[in-house]
Amino acid sequence: MRISVIGCGYLGAVHAAAMASLGHEVVGIDVDQAKIDALNTGFASIYEPGLDELLQEGLKSGKLKFTTDFSEARGAKAHFIGVGTPQRKDGAGADLTYLNSALNSLLPYLSADDVVIGKSTVPVGTAQALSQQESFQATGATLAWNPEFLREGHAIADTVTPDRLVYGLPADPAQADLARKVMDEIYAAILDRQTPQIVTDYPTAELVKVSANAFLATKISFINAVAQVADAAGANVTELADAIGLDDRIGRKFLNAGVGFGGGCLPKDIRAFKARAAELGVTDVIDLMTTVDEINLHQRQSIIDQVKQLLPEVEGKKVAVLGLAFKPESDDLRDSPALDVATRLSDAGYQVVAIDPKAGDKAQQLYPGLVLAADWEDALADADVALLLTEWKQFTTAQPPQAKTGAVVIDGRNSLDRESWLAQGWAYQGVGRR
Ligand code: UGA
Repeated sequence: MRISVIGCGYLGAVHAAAMASLGHEVVGIDVDQAKIDALNTGFASIYEPGLDELLQEGLKSGKLKFTTDFSEARGAKAHFIGVGTPQRKDGAGADLTYLNSALNSLLPYLSADDVVIGKSTVPVGTAQALSQQESFQATGATLAWNPEFLREGHAIADTVTPDRLVYGLPADPAQADLARKVMDEIYAAILDRQTPQIVTDYPTAELVKVSANAFLATKISFINAVAQVADAAGANVTELADAIGLDDRIGRKFLNAGVGFGGGCLPKDIRAFKARAAELGVTDVIDLMTTVDEINLHQRQSIIDQVKQLLPEVEGKKVAVLGLAFKPESDDLRDSPALDVATRLSDAGYQVVAIDPKAGDKAQQLYPGLVLAADWEDALADADVALLLTEWKQFTTAQPPQAKTGAVVIDGRNSLDRESWLAQGWAYQGVGRR
């Protein structure tokens, strides 16, 4: 099928490449010329395992191309919208500027039998509002909402072998039928593998996505709240998570206590959820998401407080920060707890030396004053405190060098091998298992 993908950021670039790998003829469209130029040479401007290879495969096969020219969307049967919906600068709600402008740029090239498929994470009610816009209705095209659940670092597998496909369909039966048929054809290879399919209406599809992220965030903040009790009571939150996680009603995933969640999705999605709930006059979600957000931010503060407690004299004290990205296998620094802690300690006057396998250069572009270590030994040499803030395998499996007298490692992700650090003379502090 001929497909256009509007927005070639994380979601769009991965989706375009993945759809081409399923055999479709795909054009990716974005307003950012530099991004398009890079994609056309087979390189994404983000680190995502396997993405460059998939792009190169698609470009070579002739099934994939990228452009800034929206008229290239003409003739495609399906148009995916995968632009960002970041947090508004003036509040907690989602900024739909990119979404509105993507749709407006696409309108002149839509035909009556086209299906526009929203993938961006949006506040509930957005699809209904967009589908009712006069300018959209004038095209005769159909709108569907098909949320995306990909995780950074696993984006390709999550796109081509998703846990489920969710279709949010319009109320009109003929339009709903068309949208479903088009998506079934696009995802035929995925559906053949018995991937569960949930066919529903717009608001449910929109809410599925938002509530999935809100639940994941809640799970993390829950275990971090329990970690605070474990710390106070002398219990071990990792063993506790292992034990409760064996109950399959609870599950072990997303129960890792630590410096908390970040990234381009969970933080802004819980805030947008809260803002939308307020507009709808629903209060409990506001309270719940506020608490989840507060616990999450508290985790960062708690690491900073521990450093200050260990090193009350700031002058000449070296803090090694291991990890800057918001999670391993990603170079994404958006709302990264690690970067936040590193820059705040640096602002407080500590001599912060950071290291990250992929995100170091990007972090330095954002914070030119941030000092990067040449390597693992350099980062840890003479450190008074070492902080593990992103659990890259390189860090969790590396042998630590001999500690300076009195040095402490704070394992902000509960991922280090405690014994090997103790053996090298480091005092060890985890989160919820001190
Ligand atoms: C998240 C969701 O997991 C995806 O399903 C969703 O599609 C995506 O957002 C999105 O909305 O686009 P992602 O932002 O890639 O994916 O990151 P996650 O793997 O969810 O991790 C988020 C944060 O939680 C990271 O900072 C991670 O370190 C932290 N985390 C995760 C914990 O602190 N503890 C855990 O147990 C798990």
